[in-house]
Amino acid sequence: MKKFNVYVTRLVPVEGLTLLRESCTVEVNPEDRPLTRDELLKNVKGRDGVISLLNDRIDGEVMDAAQGIKGFANYAVGFDNFDVKEATKRKIPMSNTPGVLTDATAEMAWALLFAVARRVVESDRIMRTGTWPGWGPMQFIGGDVKGKTLGVAGAGRIGTAMALMSKGFAMKVLYTDEIANTVLEKELGAKKVPFEQLLRESDFVSVHVPFMPSTRHLFNAKVFAMMKPSAYLINTSRGPVINEAELVEALKKKVIAGAALDVFEFEPKMVAGLAELVNVVVTPHTASATISSRTGMSVKAATNLLAMLKGERPPDCLNPEIYG
Ligand SMILES: NC(=O)c1ccc[n+]([C@@H]2O[C@H](COP(=O)([O-])OP(=O)(O)OC[C@H]3O[C@@H](n4cnc5c(N)ncnc54)[C@H](O)[C@@H]3O)[C@@H](O)[C@H]2O)c1
Repeated sequence: MKKFNVYVTRLVPVEGLTLLRESCTVEVNPEDRPLTRDELLKNVKGRDGVISLLNDRIDGEVMDAAQGIKGFANYAVGFDNFDVKEATKRKIPMSNTPGVLTDATAEMAWALLFAVARRVVESDRIMRTGTWPGWGPMQFIGGDVKGKTLGVAGAGRIGTAMALMSKGFAMKVLYTDEIANTVLEKELGAKKVPFEQLLRESDFVSVHVPFMPSTRHLFNAKVFAMMKPSAYLINTSRGPVINEAELVEALKKKVIAGAALDVFEFEPKMVAGLAELVNVVVTPHTASATISSRTGMSVKAATNLLAMLKGERPPDCLNPEIYG
């Protein structure tokens, strides 16, 4: 029987590739870097299926180049790089990897929250540079966490997990979402509030909304001005949800106390001025980078693609309407 012809745009953990190799010939981008647009267009040609990453824009042009393709499986839960509408028009299924990276991402939000509030990175720097003069009562005073108010913007899978992890710190939890989150309300007594109230009352705002036209620059100068001057902003969702240039200004002027970011508006770059600020902690989009999470993503992407190759609806289908 002829094997399916699959392309993977960047090396992912072997578990998913092994699954695919049972019934597919699998070609993986041999370079340890994202494909250029031209390389992407060239490499999707003649494939039965593709596993893509969040930096591969899969739009009509790619679909034109991938004539006859049976599906695209994203190695990510966010799918703002997919033109799902266009794929649906062409009856091409698409999938993502929800769930397997929820805890890893929520844990990273906490790592960032503590890092910025307790000034861990600044402190690490002073130790490594040998410039610590010895213990001092006024050094590196940061923000308290226990008993403070946590505001979760977007209480979906990751926002819920992040909020539930606050239990040990006896925090008051506020959240925004389109729908009521009964788990958070029952488990934590969390309150669904209007966005403005969340901004005004939270000591920590953790962002977990997907990136889409309605959430582009959801956080901007006007929003920062509504936050407490002592508040911290944590973003592990997608960079363009924050207006990064306006965030730099807000941080410079101490409109808010600090920010911790895993994602950036123009990845892999940061906007001018961000790197120079001490009240900022930055990580290179690694919130899902744990062994179980990345392995799970690899298996999920492969499982979804295998279903699509067989003409079946994938478990994490983004456009189920194409199956009628
Ligand atoms: N940094 C990373 O490596 C990393 C890892 C995983 C996920 N992510 C990002 O996290 C996002 C969330 O993932 P998830 O699995 O929790 O998704 P999800 O769909 O379960 O949750 C998103 C929630 O946001 C809500 N929402 C949408 N617009 C909103 C708005 N304007 N205000 C308030 N709430 C709004 C939705 O109703 C939903 O409940 C993903 O879309 C992805 O972009 C980043």
